[in-house]
Amino acid sequence: MRNLSKPLCVALLMVGSMVASQQIAVAAPQFDSARIKGPNACAECHVELAKAWKGSRHAKSFSELPSSDKALAIAKKLNIKKIKTAKLCGSCHTTHQAWGDILLPIAGVSCESCHNPAADWIKVHNSYSGKKSNTESMQEAISRWQTAEAKGMIRPYAIRSWTRRCYECHVIDDEKLINQGGHPDDRRFELVAWSQGEVRHNLWYNRGLANPPADGDLLRKMFVTGLVLELEMSLRALAKARASGPYASRLAERIVASRKKIELLAGAFPGIPEMQTVANAVTSELLIFDNQIPLLAAADRVAELMEAMDLKDEIGEFERMDRFLPKPAAYRGQVFQPTIKAPATAGPAAK
Ligand code: HEC
Ligand code: HEC
Ligand code: HEC
Ligand code: HEC
Repeated sequence: MRNLSKPLCVALLMVGSMVASQQIAVAAPQFDSARIKGPNACAECHVELAKAWKGSRHAKSFSELPSSDKALAIAKKLNIKKIKTAKLCGSCHTTHQAWGDILLPIAGVSCESCHNPAADWIKVHNSYSGKKSNTESMQEAISRWQTAEAKGMIRPYAIRSWTRRCYECHVIDDEKLINQGGHPDDRRFELVAWSQGEVRHNLWYNRGLANPPADGDLLRKMFVTGLVLELEMSLRALAKARASGPYASRLAERIVASRKKIELLAGAFPGIPEMQTVANAVTSELLIFDNQIPLLAAADRVAELMEAMDLKDEIGEFERMDRFLPKPAAYRGQVFQPTIKAPATAGPAAK
């Protein structure tokens, strides 16, 4: 197996194939702000969940970021006058709602940042086919869920879809923001740890009474999905590198580290055969700036392999990867503790 980390420093000084005009589809999630309903529209029914969200960095960032010293320092270096209305910062830190031609910043990272803009699906999502929750048949519920999904809703079971959302923001893919602005690069992000701490809101199907972590099967699926998307999205971000500097070198390091984790897992746990192929898709020659086409091809290959993976654990063998998963002590931020005691009502279980 090739040693990836060694030739890296040398490699980063070289120049690869340059195709400046090619469009790269990544970056912060591209939302249609005209379709944003805002977190209050969800909080109407999801009261406890909204409380959990309000305690997270995602929510608090909205009021705190514009006056934070760190943010002001970054903005100054980039010649940005007003953080609250700056497009660049807002693309990841803020939810915008369109009122005609005006874009209003209405919240930090909010429900629709992960579950998708809701204008087209919120009605069908909460309509119970015109019935009360307890009179809706499972068939009607399933058809309602499918319709909501077809209209864009990202539901909890769709791990790949929402994980992609996380990485669209948590792999910073703007060279200037890092090299000139000195923005943090967020290399420590890891899906299990980052989703099971302060972000956790498994309150609905527990009627607001408990907020347990995802179960073991789901955690393992998240872990694998996170590892692979981390690699894919970092490759896409490195494809945007035009110069040597912290942006390119930290992304290259992130790719090397994530490839190493994938290879380690593949070695110890052969249950997902694509994992080794994913690792093989990344070679040291790739990890240079101005190397768009090969890097994007590698990212596409990784995405293809992700699609091909069958993460159903029919015989319970995935438990063997548990020792690789982050432990609860590593979960990021404070887990929300339920505030209600009396049972609330919830709809049929959707999982
Ligand atoms: C009028 C009440 C109501 C509103 C408003 C509402 N929901 Fe729900 N939501 C429900 C009910 C009831 C369920 C129970 C599960 C089901 O049957 O869909 C649910 C379940 C969910 C689920 C998990 C269900 C699944 O598909 O597995 C998600 C995610 C969700 N809501 C997100 C949202 C978001 C995001 C918003 C705001 C854009 C929102 N909801 C607005 C009533 C509502
Ligand atoms: C591509 C998405 C993205 C863009 C664009 C972006 N940020 Fe961030 N920002 C993040 C993420 C993700 C974090 C969390 C990093 C972490 O926890 O390590 C973060 C963290 C920060 C922090 C650190 C918060 C803390 O308390 O440590 C500051 C300050 C910040 N961003 C300011 C800005 C400013 C100012 C802009 C616009 C010039 C901006 N960001 C643009 C994604 C982005
Ligand atoms: C940072 C991304 C993110 C944000 C912000 C977010 N969600 Fe979620 N949501 C998720 C993920 C991921 C899951 C599945 C987690 C799991 O199964 O452990 C989920 C699960 C849910 C569920 C199912 C809960 C259960 O009991 O199983 C509901 C309902 C929901 N979200 C509604 C909301 C609402 C309402 C908001 C805003 C107040 C919101 N979400 C904000 C990512 C997010
Ligand atoms: C729309 C962009 C966006 C999406 C989508 C997103 N995040 Fe974030 N996240 C951010 C930003 C920006 C911050 C930093 C906020 C701050 O501190 O100012 C952040 C902060 C966090 C933090 C707090 C980190 C810390 O340093 O304490 C966690 C945990 C987190 N995100 C997890 C997730 C997970 C898990 C997902 C996907 C389920 C996700 N995020 C989706 C933009 C996003």
